[in-house]
Amino acid sequence: MDPELIKENAKKEISEAENLEKLNGVLKKYFGKEGELNSVLKSLLSMPPEERIRLGSQINEVKSFLRNQFDQKASELKKNLEERNGRKEKIDVSVPGKKPRVGTLHPLSRVKKRCEEIFQSMGFEVVEGPEMESEWYNFDALNIPHDHPARDLWDTFYLKNGLLLRTHTSPNQIRYMENHQPPLRIIVPGTVFRHEATDPSHEFQLIQLEGLMIDKKVSAANFKAIIEGFFKRFFNKNIKARLRPDFFPFVEPGFDVSISCVVCGGKGCSVCKKSGWIEVAGAGMVHPNVFKNAGLIPGDWQGWAFGFGIERLAMMKYKINDIRLFRSGDLRFLKQF
Ligand code: DAH
Repeated sequence: MDPELIKENAKKEISEAENLEKLNGVLKKYFGKEGELNSVLKSLLSMPPEERIRLGSQINEVKSFLRNQFDQKASELKKNLEERNGRKEKIDVSVPGKKPRVGTLHPLSRVKKRCEEIFQSMGFEVVEGPEMESEWYNFDALNIPHDHPARDLWDTFYLKNGLLLRTHTSPNQIRYMENHQPPLRIIVPGTVFRHEATDPSHEFQLIQLEGLMIDKKVSAANFKAIIEGFFKRFFNKNIKARLRPDFFPFVEPGFDVSISCVVCGGKGCSVCKKSGWIEVAGAGMVHPNVFKNAGLIPGDWQGWAFGFGIERLAMMKYKINDIRLFRSGDLRFLKQF
């Protein structure tokens, strides 16, 4: 075969070899014992002397040319390989680490926890009750008889099993007094349900926190001091509490509890609708019928109770303007806490 042709073919194959193994194959094909260059050399034996000399030196040139090509290509491939391996193993200690994503408490859990801490520090025990409740505990025992218009205050989810989803945490006043002899101080945080259309300030599910204190001599003044102290600590501000008469069947007298506006401090702003006050809770002195229904003798004890919504407090604390965000599952919202 023509040495020039061999040279061209080999050159092409060398440049196309994409790794050392392939390059070795090409080397064998041309330089091996049975390789193409050897077979041309062998054919020289049968040639006339001048021809042999001419062709011989041509083959030698091709050989040394191809050797060179091989060596170049081999070192190129080796370098590539080393670079690739090196990149894989190289450790750059100056690269900033990847921060593991750690979850955080849901804002409602946070607020609930904080409320519990504050009340616990004032001697209140945290207790819980069932979300599926009987009409007796949710209404009757709380002095809300079957046909009392007050039942209309709560749009209730009635269940097929004869129970209902509690509309407030107040049933636990009865449940606890049934099993515990006063004096007592408890709070009952828990989820409650109301059949309501949702909007930025209404949800059909919310977390309430009930409070109850029973002793021989307990007054509304005690309640005011406790609740004001609580809000001062919760908002870390000099909050004032205000009680105004209100009606709840399970208390007498009943109060509407407002606090001085956490935004303007009472001067009047858009949040408090220029009144300087924000309504936050219902409360009152425990009604004699409630004591009776819990198995206590009304004349023996005095007590007060209150209830407020955790969502409301969280919205004030974190300046959240839509209650539906809490249960939206939107991580952009949740990641901020
Ligand atoms: N249970 C009431 C509600 O859901 C809130 C409430 C008002 C609780 C007065 C009380 C209370 O303990 O004394 O609206």
